[in-house]
Amino acid sequence: MEKQKLKFPDGFLWGAATSAHQVEGGNKNDWSEWEKANAKRLAEEAPKKHADWQVKKFPEMLTPENYISGAACDYYNRFEEDFDIAKSLSHNAHRFSIEWSRIEPEEGKFDEQEIEHYRKVIKAVLARGMEPFVTIWHWTNPLWLAEKGGPENRKFAFYFARYAKFVVEKLGEDVKFWITLNEPTSVIAAAYSTGYWPPQKKNPIVALKVYKILAKAHNQAYREMKKINSDWKVGFSNILQYIEPNDEHNLLDKLSVKVTNYFSNQKFLNLVGSNQDFLAVQYYFHKKIKFPFKQTNENKTRTDMGWEIYPEGIYHLIKNLQKYNLPIYITENGLADVDDTKRDKFIKDHLKWTHKAISEGVDVRGYFHWSLLDNFEWDKGFWPRFGLVEIDYKTLERKIRPSAREYAKICQENMLKIEAENLDLT
Ligand code: BGC
Repeated sequence: MEKQKLKFPDGFLWGAATSAHQVEGGNKNDWSEWEKANAKRLAEEAPKKHADWQVKKFPEMLTPENYISGAACDYYNRFEEDFDIAKSLSHNAHRFSIEWSRIEPEEGKFDEQEIEHYRKVIKAVLARGMEPFVTIWHWTNPLWLAEKGGPENRKFAFYFARYAKFVVEKLGEDVKFWITLNEPTSVIAAAYSTGYWPPQKKNPIVALKVYKILAKAHNQAYREMKKINSDWKVGFSNILQYIEPNDEHNLLDKLSVKVTNYFSNQKFLNLVGSNQDFLAVQYYFHKKIKFPFKQTNENKTRTDMGWEIYPEGIYHLIKNLQKYNLPIYITENGLADVDDTKRDKFIKDHLKWTHKAISEGVDVRGYFHWSLLDNFEWDKGFWPRFGLVEIDYKTLERKIRPSAREYAKICQENMLKIEAENLDLT
């Protein structure tokens, strides 16, 4: 079968992402404490929250241990081994995060040893020819800050900007790309609106307040960082959902799409305005909405999380971002797939649609798969397997999944080779 060759722009960054709390192990922060207090409840509630096939396939979700991050992947000690793997898979970039509770375990007291640790991490990324993308806040808060209300506290922006400034001053000489906040809208939705993540508020007024505070935190950190070094590229990573009306001729369905789009995709971008040097897009979700907010997705294929796989959505989202005239990096896109039967196609299909946008002039400069390793999936715990690399949580052995090797070919050749019959993007 003849193959079409979809070449990506020169210098395109290829890699994978992780976040500190999900892989490092040994963290003590608001999440680690919440996990211990809620593990039993989460295990008991699992059958109600998941489909029967999920409970059957992942019985570990019924055990409290599943919900405690504990040693996670022990990446804190094994990062060099993990970067060797990433390098062997031809990645030329790597995204990871810094854990605030390690750097500032007590209010205003910064830990130089932990800075030294992350300096080694950054050097190890660079030594393997990978470009570091460093996230400064991937959701977890030091306990002292959580006690003050975390992002609900009006001083959060001050605390965050002070921490960010400390980090970039100490570690900035080898880093070009910084991501201040990871997916603020996910936290606003899950922690303050639907309320199933810590601190489990279910209050739309608080949610609206947190929007403002997180945006202020980003903006303040952005300004301070750029004052230190205007060459740094600073952005925030934004989860975007591709949202369609159930019936494109129905005005009410269209209205529901507008409202959802505003709160999920638009509001935070508006609040950040020009305080960003690139757009960091994270794509997992497609929604078809029937008025008022009923989801009518067809769900032809799903991940182990039960999430619909809808590659075309990435194309529409990044096309729509073209108007901002900023470089775009896809800083997360991935799936839970323990059998590794869907990951290869998932990656190729998303890249096929990304390439279509690029060929139409959209300035996409990088793709980071979520995730390099299986890891701790927040309130779901360890059963969802998002890794290009499988982790045996008993022995902590790493095993490269076949799909990772397929992705490696794309990274190495800067090109997606695809059967001509699979190219139909109309
Ligand atoms: C987050 C990750 C998470 C992934 C899969 C993203 O929303 O940034 O921390 O593991 O999605 O749910």
